[in-house]
Amino acid sequence: MPEGVQLWNHRPYETIEVKRLAGALGAEISGVDLSEPLTDGLFGEIYQAFVEHHVIFFRDQEITPEQYLAFAKRWGGIHLHPFMKGLDDHPEILELIKTETDTYAFGNSWHSDQMFAPKPAKCTMLYALETPETGGDTQFANLYAAYDALSDGMKAMVGGLRCHNGGDRTSAHDRKSRAERYSGASGMKLKDPGDVQTESIHPLVRTHVDTGRKALYMGSHTQCIEGFTPEESKPILAQLQKHIERPEFICRFNWAPGSLAIWDNRCCQHYAINDYAGQRRRMHRITIMGEDAPF
Ligand code: OGA
Ligand code: MN
Repeated sequence: MPEGVQLWNHRPYETIEVKRLAGALGAEISGVDLSEPLTDGLFGEIYQAFVEHHVIFFRDQEITPEQYLAFAKRWGGIHLHPFMKGLDDHPEILELIKTETDTYAFGNSWHSDQMFAPKPAKCTMLYALETPETGGDTQFANLYAAYDALSDGMKAMVGGLRCHNGGDRTSAHDRKSRAERYSGASGMKLKDPGDVQTESIHPLVRTHVDTGRKALYMGSHTQCIEGFTPEESKPILAQLQKHIERPEFICRFNWAPGSLAIWDNRCCQHYAINDYAGQRRRMHRITIMGEDAPF
């Protein structure tokens, strides 16, 4: 939890308005101007909404990169992406851009950010600058709800398991090399990860540090269950992933310029929908570092 934030159980929000987006997760927050410094009280309310709804959205925000970074730093330390180069003048901000002629959309698989890292991302922020006329929505899945809905037998089985997770170098979701994949994303700048660790083992059931609740912790970076053969592991992971994608666990957000989302990677998966061929989409992304394992 960020410094100075205290969660409460039953207290109405005093400053912000919170409107839920779906039964499963997601809420739109209004009554906040993110270009201004936030008091601890106001930031505490925003953090509370984030913990309660797992992904929160703001609309019509006009913020400079400096204001965006100042807000982001309230949430924790900034994580630099090992494969993707940030903006020249603000390396902490990654520009996601898909042009009219591009075919590849960053994040176009069900995943939780940076699961390949030993200390995966706590939360990710995305600020929309240019959005397609139609399409380009993002879907989110509630991994607490997916865990809770498993049978007791399945909970007992997955409870002690750990999984191998790999980064882009070893991505399981398509067989293309990174260079091949990003040839369809002309505006995105790659970098060499060098010595940065991009493969990590994490528990399949993760306990959230702020809530104590358990969540199914997997996604398209997840490759194999530790101690299982690939043949044994594949159908189990596929079945769990299919379960996570049930519409009951999902919400969907339609972006407009000025929209800003913050999602909790410890209890959500997300999926960037690639359905806007011929149109532009440009977003600024900041990722906040997570806590040390074990979790
Ligand atoms: C991300 C991501 C989703 C989107 O930034 O990590 O997956 O809709 N983006 O752009
Ligand atoms: Mn992502």
